[in-house]
Amino acid sequence: MEYLEIEGGKPLCGQVRIQGSKNAALPILSAAILNRGRTVLHHCPRIQDVKEMCKILSELGCRIGWEGDSLWIQADTLDSFVISKYHAEKMRSSITLLGSLLGRLGQACIPYPGGCVIGERPIDLHLKGLEKMGVQVKRTEEQVEAQSTGIQGARIFLSFPSVGATENLLLAAVLAQGTTWIEGAAREPEILELCRFLEAMGACIEGAGESCIRVMGVKELHDAEYTIASDRIVAGTYLMAAAACGGEAALLQAPLSHMQEILPVLRGMGASFTIEPDMLVIRAPERCRRVENLHTAPYPGFATDMQSPLLAALCRAEGTSRLTENVFEARFKIVEELQAMGAQIHVENNTAVVQGVSQLQGCNVEAKELRGGAALCIAAASARGTSRIYGCQYIFRGYEDIIGDLKSLGIVIQ
Ligand code: UD1
Repeated sequence: MEYLEIEGGKPLCGQVRIQGSKNAALPILSAAILNRGRTVLHHCPRIQDVKEMCKILSELGCRIGWEGDSLWIQADTLDSFVISKYHAEKMRSSITLLGSLLGRLGQACIPYPGGCVIGERPIDLHLKGLEKMGVQVKRTEEQVEAQSTGIQGARIFLSFPSVGATENLLLAAVLAQGTTWIEGAAREPEILELCRFLEAMGACIEGAGESCIRVMGVKELHDAEYTIASDRIVAGTYLMAAAACGGEAALLQAPLSHMQEILPVLRGMGASFTIEPDMLVIRAPERCRRVENLHTAPYPGFATDMQSPLLAALCRAEGTSRLTENVFEARFKIVEELQAMGAQIHVENNTAVVQGVSQLQGCNVEAKELRGGAALCIAAASARGTSRIYGCQYIFRGYEDIIGDLKSLGIVIQ
């Protein structure tokens, strides 16, 4: 069985270049099929989820290839609207192909998506929105079958700013007849990225990154070349590693404008930053301070994807921290693993109460999902002795080279 082995307990010292964003790249790959031509994506992360998405696009008839960290997609040969269960189940983002297949072919047949088991993850908002646009949706036990004889612009209100639902509706609206308003839209930077890419292909969008997005349908799109922004969650993970271990880390190409909710939290914990063009340097004390009360929320709130890395960093912080998870209901799965390392945590409903200890002790732990797995690496790096992290295949879904990155930051890992 594959595992990562980390010899922890030393402060960080080093620098790392931040990879392209997973949550931006996946819907953009999905969007690429809206154009009957060629797309080139630069700074595309070579992560497991992107490789899976490429397999799905090939299965649909596209041709795809890598040149360095650039990925090209030739989508004129796309001829299928059916996604196999085998691939759909491997990741959450397969569901964004619902909107883009409907936009391109007027039909889509997609098994329910997989992805990290961090809660219920329904798709009711995606489907209700598409129905408002004139799409007929049939749900069977196994899959969603959707078709339309002509997608119509509509006024849609999302009762929760779902990232996936906003992406699906954007993708369906770009080539629709008339104008679509998405009210209560998600404002995550990855939505802005998707809109910027769609615009580069010729889409007409107003209000990208705001809670009301207006999409004026166009007749067709054209070839585009786009550079994907750096991954704010990967950058945040390495900042949390510095907070957990102490020391200094320089992040090259960190997406600063997308990280404005993370830096104040780390400053409050006692970290300081130097911000230079293209480089963010964090300095953290041997033990950070607690956070009093922090809750996750849709953007611009504190990202749910950063909750586990922060939890790992708080295990050794001075004082008692309270961390509340408001977005996904099952996102404290690593608590047991952290407790095995000596962390003092108890969970009350959706709040984790962490009483900081001076030392964690390395041990064998198991990752059960992506961000939790990365958080276990952080805890292991801050713990005295050796840890093995099993289930590392989850981490590879979103981190291009976590071993190389952590090594560059001075962590002993193999
Ligand atoms: C995306 C991100 C994920 C991140 C999350 C929230 C990708 C590939 N994944 O996931 O990393 O943690 O945003 O920032 O980009 N919900 C409904 N009905 C729906 C859809 C969602 O009730 O139809 C609920 C979910 O159960 C959850 C909340 O809305 O409680 C947020 O989900 P959503 O924003 O849709 O997250 P994802 O797009 O799945």
